[in-house]
Amino acid sequence: MNILVTGGAGFIGSHIVDKYIELGHQVTVVDNLERGRKENLNPKARFIKLDILDSGLENVFAEGAFDIVNHHAAQVSVVYSLDDPMRDAKVNILGALNVLTNCLKFKIKKVIYANSGGAGCGEPRYMPLDEKHPVEPLAPYGASKHTIEHYLHLFRQNNGLRYFALRYMNVYGPRQDPFGEGGVVAIFTNKMLNNETPRINGDGEQTRDFVYVGDVVAANVMALDRGEGEGVLIGSEVETSVNDIYANLRDLTDYQGEVVSGPEIPGEVRKIYATCERAFQVLGWRSQTSLAEGLKKTVGFYKD
Ligand SMILES: NC(=O)c1ccc[n+]([C@@H]2O[C@H](COP(=O)([O-])OP(=O)(O)OC[C@H]3O[C@@H](n4cnc5c(N)ncnc54)[C@H](O)[C@@H]3O)[C@@H](O)[C@H]2O)c1
Repeated sequence: MNILVTGGAGFIGSHIVDKYIELGHQVTVVDNLERGRKENLNPKARFIKLDILDSGLENVFAEGAFDIVNHHAAQVSVVYSLDDPMRDAKVNILGALNVLTNCLKFKIKKVIYANSGGAGCGEPRYMPLDEKHPVEPLAPYGASKHTIEHYLHLFRQNNGLRYFALRYMNVYGPRQDPFGEGGVVAIFTNKMLNNETPRINGDGEQTRDFVYVGDVVAANVMALDRGEGEGVLIGSEVETSVNDIYANLRDLTDYQGEVVSGPEIPGEVRKIYATCERAFQVLGWRSQTSLAEGLKKTVGFYKD
């Protein structure tokens, strides 16, 4: 298949590109390299450095004759979205709409959309989180990402655009930015390997559902020909505290130094984990990588 991956120079997108190419697909990447890296780009992918807000995106679609569009490009910072909700909405809503209206115009067969599971629901009313949970985001990022599922729904109803949304929990693994805000695994690993003191925000008993990037890639492969017209949660189905992540990484990196505590981050939920029963029903997907295995692979990557 001929596939456009937006954000394909970023953490998750670049792993998806690698797998699609390995499976024999033809891949074009559109990324403005704001956070993505050239080193992440698969040399067999066609790369176009472009902002998804740029009107030139239409030419990319016109020349590309894509079957599938996998939309991963986004403003990904929760804190930034609180500081500048306008810019967050520009990229995550208007940029995504630029992608989707081109999908309609050029009759793309299917859109795969990377949404957030946790940021959309806010502090869960019950756990494990499932797809029926009300949408009550704590930050503009969660609102902007979720908004696109509404557009996808209406473009499907009105124009017959086929789509499937994957609502990720906390994705971790090789290539995650250790200087970003959300990737606690990458941040801690990088600090500990460099003998710098990691900081735990709050008491460290906040929990997340950490899912390995390789498992997320598998969901993106399955979604090429399975799943239609809905969004499913993609997580490990295991609740893990930040303190547990710290303890695991300390052992794996042999870190002997200290840890300091910092203030809680606004806009973040306290405890969350998901059930992925729906992803299993629709895609046949479940996360396969245990936390121990995933952390080991991740530390190995940063050591290299
Ligand atoms: N990492 C997670 O745990 C997680 C969880 C839920 C959802 N997601 C979603 O997955 C997707 C990928 O996230 P990631 O963690 O790989 O982040 P990332 O920052 O590594 O990847 C995003 C990519 O999009 C590109 N980009 C940003 N703005 C752009 C623009 N205006 N035009 C073109 N390219 C642009 C960046 O350069 C980057 O390469 C995002 O849509 C994010 O909302 C990620």
